[in-house]
Amino acid sequence: MSAYLEAEHEPVTHELDVAGLKVTGELPKALDGLYVRNSGNPKFAPKGRYHWFDGDGMVHGIRFADGGARYMNRWVETKAFKHEREAGKALWSGILEPMTDERMVLPGGPIKDTANTDLVFHRGQLLALWWLSGTPMQLSTKDLSTVGPQKFGGALKGGFSAHPKVDPRTNELVFFDFSIVREPYLRYGVVDAEGTLVKYEPVPIPTPHILHDMAITENHSVLMDFPLGWDREKLALGKFRIGFDRATPSRFGVLPRRGGAADVRWFEAEPCYMYHSINAYESGDEIVLVGCRVRDPIPQKRSDREGIARLDNIELVPELYEWRMNLKTGALKERQLDDLPTEFPKTNELRQGTKLRYSYNPRLSPRSELMFDGLVKYDLSSGAKTKWESPRGWYVGEASFAPRPGATDEDDGWLVTFGTNAADRASACFVLNAKDLAAGPVAVVHLPQRIPLGFHSYWCAGA
Ligand SMILES: [Fe+2]
Repeated sequence: MSAYLEAEHEPVTHELDVAGLKVTGELPKALDGLYVRNSGNPKFAPKGRYHWFDGDGMVHGIRFADGGARYMNRWVETKAFKHEREAGKALWSGILEPMTDERMVLPGGPIKDTANTDLVFHRGQLLALWWLSGTPMQLSTKDLSTVGPQKFGGALKGGFSAHPKVDPRTNELVFFDFSIVREPYLRYGVVDAEGTLVKYEPVPIPTPHILHDMAITENHSVLMDFPLGWDREKLALGKFRIGFDRATPSRFGVLPRRGGAADVRWFEAEPCYMYHSINAYESGDEIVLVGCRVRDPIPQKRSDREGIARLDNIELVPELYEWRMNLKTGALKERQLDDLPTEFPKTNELRQGTKLRYSYNPRLSPRSELMFDGLVKYDLSSGAKTKWESPRGWYVGEASFAPRPGATDEDDGWLVTFGTNAADRASACFVLNAKDLAAGPVAVVHLPQRIPLGFHSYWCAGA
């Protein structure tokens, strides 16, 4: 059985809604909102080999109000989820299994759109999103039940990837769509503050690649094109396997926010992969991008180093990294900022697109599955970092930043994350003062059930 179905990754079988949770420490009264986190949680026994990314979307949430906490978890009821529920069994096999003819005729395609990856809160709407670019699913912020697909009045005729960005000044939702099967391989989109899809157009790229994130600055958007896609040698033999093309540069496409394909300026960088960017901003003639870069996601010779997280044939050894792109000269400069492996970074979303001082990154534990054993607060201006190590036996996940209402300091607020202890079959929500990570949690909310580790989270202020 896959390690991603056991211990800290064991799926849950029940949907709960429990108020008045037990809290150790004290929840700040000003912490008012909904912390949500998406995950893969198969409802039925997987058909064939299981990959962590296959599981049905399940969102776990904690509603904080008046110093108290309520826990909820619900599956994301996508079209495919409903088909399987009706059938009473898994109909789709996962991404590690061959793309058979039988799969090709499944409704919506051979890979199940689970909306299991990311979450975004825009105009009071909570959306669950999929890593392979699918249909955004709107969830109720009251009880996490599925409202239905969000296609922006029918204007969204294609996919919508994980990791869109909300511009806190304009309230635009900026996103991309990609496909590794058919053209267009990349699309760029903007939903305005009224919820209207005002931009959704193809941006030609030469080769289909697995794309995962983008970034925004105050006036620009940054698209990413890393050389991770089909292994061409295997593809010629009819086999679908992901490969890293180390002869092809990484590319960043910078365009004005409401610009289109004709406005994109591409910058080339050293071949690499990046799952998650931290931030981008404008500095004079430069666009500066910071993120968690992986230098070689699929080494030609699998390293025998212990303590490297792996997902199938992909190795996850991230490093904090910076690219500077000069819009005047067209030059790109890049450099490593730190070598500590961290991932799933989060920042103060109210300052998205401006020069940030702080990033909050879970630290990779030396395990062969992707797991985090603490949080690191980076001071990007000085390179300094402070750490909080999770208690022994506890693994944590992405930590959203919840700003203190009315705060003026960038780091005036709290970090909220779920943690799981497999040995004790216990889970909790840790709340830390972002100004003083090293002091440990100000409050630990004890969950009424053990929950698996998951993917991305979001802080929905006031929801
Ligand atoms: Fe992601």
